[in-house]
Amino acid sequence: MSEKEISIGLFGFGCVGQGLYDVLNHSQSLKANITTIGVKDHSKPRKIDASFFTFKKEDILKRDDLDVIVELIDDAEEAFRIVSTAMNNGVNVVTANKKMLAENFQKLYELQEQNNVALLYEGSAGGSIPIIRNLEEYYDNELLSSFRGILNGTCNYILSRMELESKDYSEILKDAQASGFAESNPWLDVAGFDTLYKTILLTVHSFGLILKPEQVLNLGIQNITFDDIVYAREKGLRIKLLGTGYKSGNEFRVYVMPHFVEKTDELYNVIYEYNGVEVEGAFSCKQTFVGKGAGSHPTGSAVLSDISALTYNYKYAYKKLRKLLNGKDKRVNGEQLDNNFSLKVYIRFREKEELKQLEILNIEEEYRSARTNYIVATVTLKSLFCLKGNKESKLFVCAV
Ligand SMILES: NC(=O)c1ccc[n+]([C@@H]2O[C@H](COP(=O)([O-])OP(=O)(O)OC[C@H]3O[C@@H](n4cnc5c(N)ncnc54)[C@H](OP(=O)(O)O)[C@@H]3O)[C@@H](O)[C@H]2O)c1
Repeated sequence: MSEKEISIGLFGFGCVGQGLYDVLNHSQSLKANITTIGVKDHSKPRKIDASFFTFKKEDILKRDDLDVIVELIDDAEEAFRIVSTAMNNGVNVVTANKKMLAENFQKLYELQEQNNVALLYEGSAGGSIPIIRNLEEYYDNELLSSFRGILNGTCNYILSRMELESKDYSEILKDAQASGFAESNPWLDVAGFDTLYKTILLTVHSFGLILKPEQVLNLGIQNITFDDIVYAREKGLRIKLLGTGYKSGNEFRVYVMPHFVEKTDELYNVIYEYNGVEVEGAFSCKQTFVGKGAGSHPTGSAVLSDISALTYNYKYAYKKLRKLLNGKDKRVNGEQLDNNFSLKVYIRFREKEELKQLEILNIEEEYRSARTNYIVATVTLKSLFCLKGNKESKLFVCAV
């Protein structure tokens, strides 16, 4: 793209869409203009002139004068249809839709290749933290060994308030919903799915490995109680929901789970709605990025940064992925994902019966009282998959 004003076709005018609109209006350097905005609800009052809006996606997708389509809707399936149509039309796309990206990554990668277009998505993981471009560019030549990230502001907010205000999960969740820090249906956040989608994106840019959401374990905080917070606090620890990726020989261990985090850990002090990602490289050692992980303006600013990057023809080069593909590596199919290992976890339970579904190799500690029961044990990661998205189970599992 040249120095001319950039024409943007925008889908979605909710939290992030409006954030982008505001941030763009304050931008000094970027000459960009939102031409049309695609939305869904005819009856919603709008903050800007009605002439901006359309309810027919073709009004945007069929235009041939747009430089970029920005997709910021909350429906992953429709988002995929919009994004793939735009790419097939040869238009560059910016999105923040981690669910759509994680569920369709292979296809979206191919569409970029086939149509020679850019698909940028910095706002989809870590909100305002520029983690994707850093992993892609800065750590390109660095031997990355791991990343660990607090990637969901809602969970971190709930965990921080439970600990700092000594309150139970349900009370804080209700309050978080009332104050806009949690969705009315918080399942995707609290059960670790949102963190899973972001972890999948970080895995692509860290290691060049494309994984499908069903291949990766995600456990959330939906069963946490104040007793678990007390257990952590007594040991000087904090509980954080982490998305993690580790290199292990030629394979990779990727999973999402609550973790006990020590005071000396950089992620310990990442509290409330903040996100933090620690990246470890062979020569750079550990580095931590911290920032607002969500919200209208922080995410809008990440989207704006992507639009700006398109003005100098920036595309993700997918160097790690490409290198492995050329070497006929199996990473595209996720065959290098290692789920065959065991790990030490704290498991709080009500009935011992509930533990039977897990492959427990060794129990190090067992505690039972009228109030709470827990074990600290080594379990196989594979057996924990029965808890992924399981609404019936009341077990709380936390990596030690
Ligand atoms: N909120 C955050 O902090 C945050 C952070 C990072 C990434 N994201 C991602 O950004 C995206 C947008 O999130 P959001 O929080 O801005 O959502 P939101 O506040 O719920 O707004 C969603 C917008 O999408 C529009 N929409 C929904 N279905 C549509 C359809 N079929 N066609 C056209 N428009 C449609 C809605 O239209 P109406 O206005 O007519 O209802 C609304 O304007 C999601 O993928 C989300 O995961 C959000």
